[in-house]
Amino acid sequence: MNLDLPQQSTALAKQAADELGAAQDKAELARIKSSYLGRNGSIAALLRAIPGLPSEQRRDAGRAVNEAKKSVEVLFMERQEALRGAALSRASQVPVDPTLPGRRDWHGHSHPVTQAWDEICDIFSSMGYSIQEGPEVETDWHCFEALNIPQGHPAREMQDTFYIEEKVVLRTHTSPVQVRSMLSLDPPMRVICPGVVYRRDNDLTHTPMFHQVEGLVVDDRVTMADLKGTLSEFARAFFGPGTKVRFRPSYFPFTEPSAEVDVSCVFCKGEGAGCRVCKDTGWLEVLGAGMVDPAVFAEVGRPEYDPDKVQGFAFGMGIDRLAMLRYGIGDLRMLFENDVRLLEQF
Ligand code: DAH
Repeated sequence: MNLDLPQQSTALAKQAADELGAAQDKAELARIKSSYLGRNGSIAALLRAIPGLPSEQRRDAGRAVNEAKKSVEVLFMERQEALRGAALSRASQVPVDPTLPGRRDWHGHSHPVTQAWDEICDIFSSMGYSIQEGPEVETDWHCFEALNIPQGHPAREMQDTFYIEEKVVLRTHTSPVQVRSMLSLDPPMRVICPGVVYRRDNDLTHTPMFHQVEGLVVDDRVTMADLKGTLSEFARAFFGPGTKVRFRPSYFPFTEPSAEVDVSCVFCKGEGAGCRVCKDTGWLEVLGAGMVDPAVFAEVGRPEYDPDKVQGFAFGMGIDRLAMLRYGIGDLRMLFENDVRLLEQF
């Protein structure tokens, strides 16, 4: 069978030339190369057959097999070069437009609600307030009962509550952190309590999750004038020095007297007429406030908060609403859709 090694070598070289010539990629090329030149390839098999030949044939057979081997090596190199050249010329045909603008770097930054949150905290910190936080899953007692909103009180209807259990809720406001602060800190105290709150509400101006900041000051001589001065100062720091503030009588179970606080419209600068944001009034309602109702001190039940000895004021505001007014965003829901086209503007 090995008698005609030279002939077999020539045939093998011819077959390799056909296969290599048809190879279309590197992987195929490598596979063909190893099937001929590899340790178990067909050339190696021919070489192994040589010692079995009659001695006078070995020299010619050896030369023939080596020639075949060399020719397969050369064909492999040539085909490899040809494929590489083809790939390069394909790549160079992709048109390049050097006048196109470069790719832009994307920089992360805080969400507008976070920016407003931070700024509110900064303003009150500069007035000597400390920051307190409380749990989002809250007991009925902290969220309502202790704030003078007993079971069946009509004020519970004002807040569409998500219930976890009969006496456990997702807090509907940050006011329970007032209660928690009075339980853990002694007067005199000045705190603000930013946080996430939840209500069953969803439309242009309400989302089921939103953000509030609660403020509480307790001391032995705190008056409504302190409250007015503090909130006026805050409004000017947040909305600009020309901002006017007005207090309207209102009702909250946990404050007496209570007020709703408006700022002069940041869009029409208080002009009113023709302004869609303030609906021609020149004013925007931004928060609720009042003097802490003695019933809340009594419910806290600590001697340090004896209603005959301490007084306080409290206020609560929506961070999202403040961010919308500040940045001129018309739909509250846009704040939570996280569309980068909106967010990258801030
Ligand atoms: N908790 C009220 C709400 O969510 C806001 C509020 C009003 C808080 C008056 C206060 C306050 O501390 O005095 O609507």
